Amino acid sequence: MIKAGIIGATGYTGAELVRMLSTHPDVELTVITSRQYEGQKISDVYPALTGRSDLVCEAFEPDTFCERVDIAFTALPHKIPMGIVPDLLDRGVRVVDLSADFRFRNVAAYEAWYQPHTAPELSETAVYGLCELNHEAIKGAQVVGNPGCYPTTILLALVPLLKAGIIEAEGIISDSKSGVSGAGRGLSLGAHFCEANESFKPYKVDGHRHRPEIEEVLSLAHGSDVEVTFIPHLIPATRGMLSTIYCTLAEGKSEADARAVLASTYAGRPFVRLREAGKMPDILHVQYTNFCDIGLSSDSRNGRMVVVSAIDNLVKGASGQAIQNMNIMAGLDERAGLL
Ligand SMILES: NC(=O)c1ccc[n+]([C@@H]2O[C@H](COP(=O)([O-])OP(=O)(O)OC[C@H]3O[C@@H](n4cnc5c(N)ncnc54)[C@H](OP(=O)(O)O)[C@@H]3O)[C@@H](O)[C@H]2O)c1
Repeated sequence: MIKAGIIGATGYTGAELVRMLSTHPDVELTVITSRQYEGQKISDVYPALTGRSDLVCEAFEPDTFCERVDIAFTALPHKIPMGIVPDLLDRGVRVVDLSADFRFRNVAAYEAWYQPHTAPELSETAVYGLCELNHEAIKGAQVVGNPGCYPTTILLALVPLLKAGIIEAEGIISDSKSGVSGAGRGLSLGAHFCEANESFKPYKVDGHRHRPEIEEVLSLAHGSDVEVTFIPHLIPATRGMLSTIYCTLAEGKSEADARAVLASTYAGRPFVRLREAGKMPDILHVQYTNFCDIGLSSDSRNGRMVVVSAIDNLVKGASGQAIQNMNIMAGLDERAGLL
C-alpha cells in the first residue's frame, strides 16, 4: 500500500482528494492537514465524507508528516507549495502539487504572472502532469506540477492537432467556462449565490494566469511561439468546465484528419473520450469523473473548426488528474481509484 498525505485537505480540491483516495485500492490515506480545522474530523468539515474517512486534520509539520507518507499532495494556494516542497523532497517524499508553482518550465513567465519563485531549480526538474501527453516523464518524477483546469481542457484538445500539423498555430481562440468551485472554497464576492446564480459573464479578459501556461505547452508542442486568445467565463454551476476552441484547419486538412489524429493519440487512454460526429461534450456527462470529452465540428465554407472539450474542474481539472499522476509515478494502473 502506498501511504499518502494531503496538505490543505479542507479546500475543494483537498476534499476531492480525500473522497477519491479513501476508496483507492492501493492507497492508505494516512495524514491530512489544515490550519483552520486543526483537531477536527474531515467528516465534520465535509459531512458527505462521513463513513469514508474519519481522519482528523493536523497542523503541517514536515518531520511528523513525512514519517507517515510516501507521497504528498499539496492542495494549497500558489506560493505556499514552493516554500514546503523542498522540505518534503529532502525527506524522501514525492509530490504532486496542485498549484501553479511547478507547472512552468520558464520561471520568468511564472514570475511575470505570479510572484518571485523561491525554488526555481525544482522547476527545471518538475514534470508537467498532463497525464495523457507526458506519461513517460511522469513515471520518474519527484515533483509533478499538476496542470491547471482550463489548460487541461485546451491542451488535451489542441496539442495533438498542432503537433500533427492539422491546425494552424495562428488565430486560436478559446472561449472557456467554469463552474464556481473553480475559485476554491475561500469566500469572495463573485462566488456569492446572488452574484453567481443566473449570471453568465466573462472575467479576466485582459489576461488570465492560465494563458501563459497554455501558451508555454502549445509552443513547446509546435516548436515555436503560439499565442492564444483565452477568455474565461463564470457559469452558474457548482462544478464543470468547458472550452469551445476556434481554430483554422491547415491547408489540405479536414475534420476527418483531426478526428483520426485525436483517435490515435488517445487510443487506449481511458480518460479521453472522443465524441462521435454530430455529438458534443456536456459538463453533466463528466461530472464527478476523470473523463475529458472532446467533440469536433468544422465549417467547410471557411476552413474553421471548433473543438469542444469538457471536464469536471475538481476531478480531471485537479484532484482526479493528481491521483492519475500518482498512479503513473507509482507504477499502478492509471485507472486505479478513478473508474
Ligand atoms: N478549484 C479548482 O477547480 C482547482 C482546479 C485546478 C487547480 N486548483 C488549484 O489547487 C489549489 C487548491 O485549490 P482549492 O480550490 O482547493 O483551494 P481552496 O478551496 O481555497 O483550499 C485551499 C486549502 O489550502 C489551505 N490554505 C490556505 N492558505 C494557506 C496557507 N497560507 N498556508 C497553508 N495552507 C493554506 C486551506 O486550509 P486552511 O486555511 O485550513 O489551512 C485549504 O485547505 C490551488 O492552487 C488552485 O489554484 C484548483
